[in-house]
Amino acid sequence: MLKSYSPFLKHLQNLLASQTELPDFSKQVESAVNGLASSQLENLVSRAQLKKSGAFFSSPELSRRVACELKSNNRKTALVVDPACGAGNLLLAAASDLAVAPTLSATLKSWGTKLAGFDIHDEFVKATHLRLALYACHRGAKFDLPLDSAISDYFPNIKKADGTVAIASLQSKRCHILLNPPYAVVKTPQNYNWISGNVNQAAVFLVQCIEKLKPQSRITAILPDVLRSGTRYAKWRNQLEEIVSIKKIESVGNFITADVDVFVIDLEIDNTKPGLAPGVTWWEDNISQKISDNFHVSVGAVVKHRINKNDKIVPYIHAKGLPQWGEITNPTESVAFSGRIESPPFVVIRRTSSPSDKKRAIATIVTGKRKVAIDNHLLICTPKAGGYAQCKKLIGILKDDTTNLHLNNRIRCRHLTVGVVKDIPAP
Ligand SMILES: C[S@@+](CC[C@H](N)C(=O)[O-])C[C@H]1O[C@@H](n2cnc3c(N)ncnc32)[C@H](O)[C@@H]1O
Repeated sequence: MLKSYSPFLKHLQNLLASQTELPDFSKQVESAVNGLASSQLENLVSRAQLKKSGAFFSSPELSRRVACELKSNNRKTALVVDPACGAGNLLLAAASDLAVAPTLSATLKSWGTKLAGFDIHDEFVKATHLRLALYACHRGAKFDLPLDSAISDYFPNIKKADGTVAIASLQSKRCHILLNPPYAVVKTPQNYNWISGNVNQAAVFLVQCIEKLKPQSRITAILPDVLRSGTRYAKWRNQLEEIVSIKKIESVGNFITADVDVFVIDLEIDNTKPGLAPGVTWWEDNISQKISDNFHVSVGAVVKHRINKNDKIVPYIHAKGLPQWGEITNPTESVAFSGRIESPPFVVIRRTSSPSDKKRAIATIVTGKRKVAIDNHLLICTPKAGGYAQCKKLIGILKDDTTNLHLNNRIRCRHLTVGVVKDIPAP
């Protein structure tokens, strides 16, 4: 229960009841069906609660971007479904293409047969009903309902439920699913062998929906970028390619309310033609020369909190204080460590990096005669044929704007991985 969201529901109810009597009715409705649901969510509900239920609403732009795939689905869709509908942003974007009848009752009667949605929070479901009704008025439907009329009755398919289960109840109709699922971190369900331990709920949610849908159903989903680009999700991507036909994959930048980079995937349940459609890739992959041609790439072996004080003392470097794009010779810091140590010269790259950084793969050359232990927040590139000149050349490549562009397209989450660095173009 998100009781703290109730004042926003009251506001929507009052707005609908007041109708055109309010001098700024139009302006208020515009705000209620656009960004207000999100800003009220942030004002009224604690950040901890939002994170726990994965409640971050799509912006109007992102919602329109997703809903425009309804038009590319040339088979007539009987039902547009958002299985995790929140306050209805994706359904509102879908409703922009639905016809408006002269009266509100006739409009909602028709929209109620074309839209479906679920959310585990009753307050969000009610907000969806009210915002759809306000949107219909905004588009010219004349208010003709008795004041005590239950708007919810017009939307029998938009209700409180676990979307991953309730979606199975819609199987008699051809569905186009619009989805921005919760992104909370959860334990991987037992029957999923494509990942172990914790998993981003979005990965599970999508698969659970796919499992329940009929052939030819379509899904357009907004998902966190880690699913597109992360090494941990390689098996999840393979699994998708085995069970659905993927028509589009597109990075769309930052999903601001949740502060996470996202991509849009468009797919069809079609086990006769599974896999990536011609021209579709998870990332640009026609790279002829890569860093891995000339360098071994690995992660530093030192995990600071696991250090055993009785181990041998060796030279040590970590990200803090390393000269960016410069060199360090015979590091002066040391650590007790008996694991893998590296022979200079080599290049280290900071693992933490964000698409908003000016340069993403900030690097330093390490030289000197003594072997060095490397912190695990650094990636190491050791020239296969040895040599300082190779390291210098690599610094030039990493500093170049084309590498930034490549990385921003390839991985938008905040940790560079070994696989991603190996694949950096190195002409
Ligand atoms: C990222 S928000 C997206 C909301 C909406 N689709 C949008 O794009 O604005 C995810 C929503 O999923 C809801 N949710 C979480 N688990 C759910 C589940 N098992 N079934 C249905 N909804 C769920 C949350 O309450 C939240 O409103």
